[in-house]
Amino acid sequence: MDQPIALVTGGQQGIGRGIAAVMAARAYHVVIWDLNREAVAVAARELGGSGYAVDVTDFGAVAEAVTVVEEEQGPIAVLVNNAGINRDRMLHRMSEEEWDQVVDVDMKGPFNVMRHVVPRMRERKAGRIINISSASWQGNVGQANYAAAKAGVIGLTKTAARELARFNITVNAICPGFIDTPMTRRMPAEAFQVMLDKIPMGRIGTPEDVGRVVAFLASPDAAYVTGDVINVGGGMVL
Ligand code: NAI
Repeated sequence: MDQPIALVTGGQQGIGRGIAAVMAARAYHVVIWDLNREAVAVAARELGGSGYAVDVTDFGAVAEAVTVVEEEQGPIAVLVNNAGINRDRMLHRMSEEEWDQVVDVDMKGPFNVMRHVVPRMRERKAGRIINISSASWQGNVGQANYAAAKAGVIGLTKTAARELARFNITVNAICPGFIDTPMTRRMPAEAFQVMLDKIPMGRIGTPEDVGRVVAFLASPDAAYVTGDVINVGGGMVL
């Protein structure tokens, strides 16, 4: 395959889908991972890419899937850690399960995938890693689990950037603000409006707004950018 490969986790819908669409339009072969085998296959077909059912919380399954993707598709040039969940609740009511689930997907997930992709990128002395954190990493009421996990992703990003710079691998994070996806459409109408009112640009973001910044970070234009965090939120401050 001559096209560079961009792997997007959680690429079946929402922001991941938008990122995959922008990358496909820029001549990458997109490989998407998501939980549901049928849905990921349909999305991959629509994107003109390849889809695999992979749970990013499963260290062993991720190891195997990275090997399969590189054997079947070729070297992963760009890794986008996008898969994420939220389980919002006030701290004094949050269950252990709600904490564990969010930390597992949102923080351990990116580690699992990087742990298995990075040795291959180091060997090739080339690679781009873009981690999707969130504006919430700085703190947001009802999101102690999510904010902690997303802050963890920034620490992971900055550390990996320092370790991998000499291997010509850049690692950056994007913090989306409030983006129109199934995740945000699940919010109660009142909470949705409160968030909208916080956006100086006066509109909710689109998955493609995030996708275009991913494409920039993956492009030669961003060759000298690493360990950085870019907000994509229409000026929103939580
Ligand atoms: P979404 O819920 O619409 O899509 C997330 C995708 O990840 C789904 O397709 C889901 O099946 C997949 N996924 C969940 N757990 C997985 C696992 N264990 N393994 C593989 N795939 C899994 O969410 P959305 O809104 O598109 O969010 C994408 C990312 O952007 C997440 O990391 C989220 O935290 C982040 N984000 C979203 C914002 C928003 O306003 N929508 C704002 C800031 C950050």
